[in-house]
Amino acid sequence: TYVVTDNCIACKYTDCVEVCPVDCFYEGENTLVIHPDECIDCGVCEPECPADAIRPDTEPGMEDWVEFNRQYAQLWPVITIKKEALPEAKKYDGETGKREKYFS
Ligand code: SF4
Ligand code: F3S
Repeated sequence: TYVVTDNCIACKYTDCVEVCPVDCFYEGENTLVIHPDECIDCGVCEPECPADAIRPDTEPGMEDWVEFNRQYAQLWPVITIKKEALPEAKKYDGETGKREKYFS
């Protein structure tokens, strides 16, 4: 599976949702997540993200992100149409530790 990671938080560009063939992106207030059981591993979303926030779970240290994506995909509504990025997306693009800041 692919997962959405820290740099989506507070940016949420949403370019990713338009290309997903199985519509498995889910939207929260500050970030999106991918449903790990629905993702077919096609990889087409990865290069679409301007914040480089989408990673394959084969990269080291992704276990926590798989769980994060799974947990919120079950709670949030699906998103299939691109919308405006969050107003301060550029400011927060590249900031570290956003998950701790927004999800604790
Ligand atoms: Fe959708 Fe493919 Fe990205 Fe998985 S890898 S979220 S199926 S576009
Ligand atoms: Fe987030 Fe990147 Fe999609 S910032 S909303 S994962 S395009």
